[in-house]
Amino acid sequence: MSRTRHFLTLLDLSPEELRSIIRRASELKRLRRAGEPHATLRGKVLAMIFEKSSTRTRVSFEAGMSQLGGSAMFLSPRDTQLGRGEPIEDTARVLSRMVDCVMIRTFAHDNVERFAEHSQVPVINGLTDLYHPCQLLADMQTFFEHRGDIRGRTVAWVGDGNNMCHSYINAARQFDFQLHIACPEGYEPDADILAAAGKRAQIVRSPTAAVEGADLVVTDTWVSMGQEEEKQRRQAAFAPYKVTRELMALAAPDALFMHCLPAYRGMEVEAEVLDAPDSVVWDEAENRLHAQKALLEFLLAG
Ligand code: CP
Ligand code: NVA
Repeated sequence: MSRTRHFLTLLDLSPEELRSIIRRASELKRLRRAGEPHATLRGKVLAMIFEKSSTRTRVSFEAGMSQLGGSAMFLSPRDTQLGRGEPIEDTARVLSRMVDCVMIRTFAHDNVERFAEHSQVPVINGLTDLYHPCQLLADMQTFFEHRGDIRGRTVAWVGDGNNMCHSYINAARQFDFQLHIACPEGYEPDADILAAAGKRAQIVRSPTAAVEGADLVVTDTWVSMGQEEEKQRRQAAFAPYKVTRELMALAAPDALFMHCLPAYRGMEVEAEVLDAPDSVVWDEAENRLHAQKALLEFLLAG
């Protein structure tokens, strides 16, 4: 197969490439604010396959392609042949002859890998059960913009060892920071993903110990898409893992709080933390737009 680059996890790009995408994301943000044209992907088409719900991912990719002079199309399995059992491999072969890039949000991570294997064009992971790399581009951009380089800093992940946690583990490797993970027993991140990060990521059971002195505190919903039936059990297990003002007070004095959203106030995060006047979660959400525009440029324009 060709040397088509994909973005299925943060490990698909080098640390230097990731940093250059983040720099470009901030530049694209400035250009958009200044009303300066930046149609670098004129005529390019992005296909977006969503097997799960989305607000931010869908809107940021669609608006982003349009701002870059291209276009995006939303494909739901409900009204494509994917939903009627056409193999992923065949869909990849066909779509990639018609469009310039494909973004997929799905359940099994294996789906995006199989798609990418049979695609002639770049494939972007818009969230799987295992990873959410696009969110990390936005989170890292947000940290860089508010606090400078994250290298050597400490990040506390409080909550589920889920797809976001896995992407934070990969980010710790690629951006060179320390990750402390506070999660209940039975909700740990994948052991292999954790082990591959070596000393950069470790499980620190207690939220207070994990957050102590941290420069960034991150959480996510306790009930990810596809886990709706486990809701009650999860809410009980995660009750001691809520990010509160008291918990944030143990972090570094200028610590940031991030959440990929959607957030459930009163569950994984106290409303007062999320809605604090200096909360950066809205910048973080906005940066999905800029970071993914930079990613699209990288993959499509080189
Ligand atoms: N954070 C995130 O991916 O949001 P959506 O589910 O709304 O796309
Ligand atoms: N962990 C969450 C993230 C949502 C953006 C989920 O997978 O549902």
